[in-house]
Amino acid sequence: MKLFAKKTDETQIPQEKLPKHVAIIMDGNGRWAKKHKAQAAFGHRAGMEPVHTVIRMSNDLHINTLSLYAFSTENWTRSPEEVDALMGLLCEFFFKDIDELIEKNVHIRVLGDKDGLPKRSRDVLYDAEKRTESCTGMNLCLAINYGSRQEIVRAAALYARDCVEKGLKPAELTEKAFSDYLYTAGLPDVDLMIRTSGEMRLSNFLLFQNAYAEFDFPVKLWPDFSGEDYMEALKAYASRDRRFGGRKKSGS
Ligand code: IPE
Ligand code: IPE
Ligand code: MG
Repeated sequence: MKLFAKKTDETQIPQEKLPKHVAIIMDGNGRWAKKHKAQAAFGHRAGMEPVHTVIRMSNDLHINTLSLYAFSTENWTRSPEEVDALMGLLCEFFFKDIDELIEKNVHIRVLGDKDGLPKRSRDVLYDAEKRTESCTGMNLCLAINYGSRQEIVRAAALYARDCVEKGLKPAELTEKAFSDYLYTAGLPDVDLMIRTSGEMRLSNFLLFQNAYAEFDFPVKLWPDFSGEDYMEALKAYASRDRRFGGRKKSGS
């Protein structure tokens, strides 16, 4: 399947009403597989089609950053067969789609501890980041071996190291400076967080970056999530009233 073969329908949503950063917890592959009387790996494979759809649409709509939760630090507790299937799909995705992503100027960033991954996946990820490092289009973040608490603790440790080695002063630390130690350094905060399958929790995803995100919990299982569903979520987001702790300009 060609990643960018289809063209995204025109949207009525003005650009300034679109989120700059969409994060997606792609959940429900296991339940989808069960419904089809198959192993979880079958559901993960079926989940690749919506992955392509949301990447293509986000790119066509000029969304600055799309973050996809692909494998959490807690997902290692699954069976070796399932973990292998997920790592295999990951390699396949890059093997098949990297040239098209480069052609579209997509910048790939991996969120998570790459060094804790099997060598083959690790090499593929380092290679994808390297090959797209000068791309200036959409940021595509793949959260792999990612846990938000691990990310925050790591950031604190890196900052502490800089205090010792570079003489930084803890009393001068700002939120912005701290966020530059996170895997998402330099990227905008999450505006829209989508989790499919009806579950309503963050499961250790982007806790710092989601501080003022709008949430959407479509009930569809991830492999059934369509382009229309994504457009619905974007439309719903565009109609939200975001206040960031302040008051509406009308004074209500
Ligand atoms: C999400 O689907 C994909 C990953 C965690 C990698 P699940 O495999 O968690 O699907 P359910 O929650 O069991 O249905
Ligand atoms: C979150 O889904 C992780 C990914 C989608 C990669 P999980 O299915 O692992 O989360 P829980 O266990 O339901 O919280
Ligand atoms: Mg799940």
